[in-house]
Amino acid sequence: MQVLPTIAEIREARKNLDQPGFVPTMGFLHDGHLSLIRRAIEECGDVVVSIFVNPTQFGPAEDFSRYPRDMERDLALLREAGVALVFTPNPDEMYPPGFATAIDVGPVAQPLEGAVRPGHFSGVATVVCKLLNIVQPARAYFGQKDIQQCAVIRRLVADLNMPVEIVIGGTVRNTEGLALSSRNAYLSETEQAQATVLHRALQAARTRVELGERNANVLKALIGDMLTGEPGLSVDYISIADPDDLRELERVTDRSVASLAVHIGKTRLLDNVFLTPG
Ligand code: PAJ
Repeated sequence: MQVLPTIAEIREARKNLDQPGFVPTMGFLHDGHLSLIRRAIEECGDVVVSIFVNPTQFGPAEDFSRYPRDMERDLALLREAGVALVFTPNPDEMYPPGFATAIDVGPVAQPLEGAVRPGHFSGVATVVCKLLNIVQPARAYFGQKDIQQCAVIRRLVADLNMPVEIVIGGTVRNTEGLALSSRNAYLSETEQAQATVLHRALQAARTRVELGERNANVLKALIGDMLTGEPGLSVDYISIADPDDLRELERVTDRSVASLAVHIGKTRLLDNVFLTPG
């Protein structure tokens, strides 16, 4: 496994790979990242992973400087998984003096995360576009856990005719149902236990849909009641939307996703599930 911090080196090393897979990450790797990486290795053979905590997708009051980092542990996990190349740029390599371009993918980036975190998806779309241009993979892998990010990337790649196939991997959870996230490192033990309500609430909505409920407001109220039953938890949003454009739905259709964002203590957590009418 080669660990390369510059664009010139990763481009050179990439020339020796045939149709590689690519998994962009911000590091502090967990089984969610590793499930994408294992799948990429299975499907593509050679896999490139990037580790870059991208400053432009964090708001001024967000956790960029305290975002968890552990490069040594990450590299050991990637070596063990069988990754070919790891791209580890620093911010100056990605954003040299004079850097000025920002990608705006339009309406899909505006609701939900986009509304709470202005500029976030422009930062994500721009860095992912740069990373895809640098690595030029055949396929790039993203996690359903960040469902709006998936929609943003799909829009970006389609609109800019980028020659890459986007693959979405399912959300990996711990045994209590909590979606794995690098930010779970911020949670105390009590908060971790409280955080399991996210998945329980989403599952309850799923079950209601399977039993025939189609009214999005009824389902959102059910989720909201379960969440607010947990002390110390505050809700950013509860959404039932089309997973392709994140447009809110009044009624659940064949393609609907229930997603939510909450704060537990100082930590912001996301989760979502697809709703499947019987
Ligand atoms: P990061 O949060 O490190 O996530 C990297 C990838 O892992 C994303 O595609 C994310 O959706 C996926 N992932 C995170 N938790 C997961 C889980 N529990 N199960 C399955 N997949 C999971 O997302 C980013 O980084 C950044 O925005 C990035 C795309 C790298 C651009 O900077």
